[in-house]
Amino acid sequence: MTTPELLGFQITHRVMRGETRRLAVLAAELTEGGQRADAARAAAIGTYVTKLCAYIHHHHVSEDEVLWPVLERSAGAEVDLRDLSDDHSELDPLLAEISGQAKIFVSTGDAARLAALLTRLADMLDEHIEEEERLLFPIIRKYVSVADWEKVEKAVRKGGDVRTELPRIEEYARPEELVRLRKMAGPALTVMLSLFRGGHRRRKRLVYGSLAGL
Ligand SMILES: [Fe+2]
Repeated sequence: MTTPELLGFQITHRVMRGETRRLAVLAAELTEGGQRADAARAAAIGTYVTKLCAYIHHHHVSEDEVLWPVLERSAGAEVDLRDLSDDHSELDPLLAEISGQAKIFVSTGDAARLAALLTRLADMLDEHIEEEERLLFPIIRKYVSVADWEKVEKAVRKGGDVRTELPRIEEYARPEELVRLRKMAGPALTVMLSLFRGGHRRRKRLVYGSLAGL
């Protein structure tokens, strides 16, 4: 391969946007009474939200610390990262606030503030990620070496738990993308997916209830 493969990154972005939006809808339904959470479900939702925030935070830190220097070195004047970096600094305190609010939800059962914050995060991520892909993907394809790109992907992957990340990729990849991924990863992917799929579905069913879409 001579150009970086961006599919994994693209699907990761889709996961972050999709899960944040879905949690925002869930929190709104919990507030309005369309969904109910007993203590076990509330705790599972709290953990899920906190882990997603940590995952999104790690993704941005990897971009700041690994991808940005790679881009500055390879593409130099072709790329202006200031707006995207500003977005990252705006997203960080919001992620921290959401994690704090998730804990408050677990102890009080009140999801109203959590719903508002998650909706704001989902809107910000939609805008930020669309901008990032529009601006950076062509530059990455044109200027970044496959070796450098692999370094970036490795740094991003470090933040995830493989038992959650792999089944999520399967969930968010389009069928033709999944075929490509299976071809790239070989039979190990199929084996790992069959190991982790069940646990992932159980966790999602507990968190999302009838919104799980499984
Ligand atoms: Fe970003």
